[in-house]
Amino acid sequence: MTEIVLKTEDLTKHYGGVQALEGAEFILHKGEHVAIMGDNGAGKSTFVRQITGVEQRTRGKVWLYGEEVHFAGPLDAREAGIETVFQTLALADDLDVPDNLFLGREKTYFDWLGPFRLLDYKGMREATMEGLRKTAVKIPNIRNTIRNMSGGQRQCVAIARTASFHSKLTIMDEPTAALGVQETAQVENIIKTLKEAGEPLILVSHNMRQVFDLVDRIIVFRRGRICANLKREETDPQDVVAYITGAKTGKEYEATAL
Ligand SMILES: Nc1ncnc2c1ncn2[C@@H]1O[C@H](COP(=O)(O)OP(=O)(O)O)[C@@H](O)[C@H]1O
Ligand SMILES: [Mg+2]
Repeated sequence: MTEIVLKTEDLTKHYGGVQALEGAEFILHKGEHVAIMGDNGAGKSTFVRQITGVEQRTRGKVWLYGEEVHFAGPLDAREAGIETVFQTLALADDLDVPDNLFLGREKTYFDWLGPFRLLDYKGMREATMEGLRKTAVKIPNIRNTIRNMSGGQRQCVAIARTASFHSKLTIMDEPTAALGVQETAQVENIIKTLKEAGEPLILVSHNMRQVFDLVDRIIVFRRGRICANLKREETDPQDVVAYITGAKTGKEYEATAL
């Protein structure tokens, strides 16, 4: 039995009358990289938001490493070891790179003069350089605030954050959608590094080539439901497109079997 990183049962989210996510049954095994694909509006981001506590689910259950979890907010999820890169970037514009990397988990030390914990700027800068080195992301000056960076650099900072901390689970929602070829390649390198380190990943992506290059398994969402659960070596891009468009059905019940 492989260890189960994440499990969802009947995970459901309605926005008023909109059934954005309906009865999602999902399992992620230790070390596994899984892609989530599906048309725009299929419910992929909604699924991610219910797991990471960005929103409160309508119903259903979520387990992280066998423990049932119900996060009140994204910081809760991060504290529990889930590192998420959202489709819309959650970076603080007026902070520099180290501050963004350590947002919510600043390094501190005790000063001998008093009972106050002080921010360890030097330690954070060093860890930032180390994190960026690992990812081969080139940022000319890490003391620049995020506001002055290109979209690609911002996204790379957000992704470098995921590689800088050993998280229990990394989730990326369309991390390369707005990136150029070179930046996309960097992000894909980071993902490969996570794979080699045995760190599990959920990757929401529209990029078929990328998905087939990187992941072990592909989950397809259609109209709020998981409609296919496919091992990479048992499927191909055409097959996946058929599930995305609804031309093919009937693989959804194997969700727990894989
Ligand atoms: N905050 C919201 N309020 C109302 N409807 C929403 C909200 N967020 C998403 N939806 C709807 O839920 C469905 C799924 O959206 P989403 O999860 O963003 O899709 P995807 O990420 O697969 O493109 C869509 O029909 C979308 O319009
Ligand atoms: Mg989305």
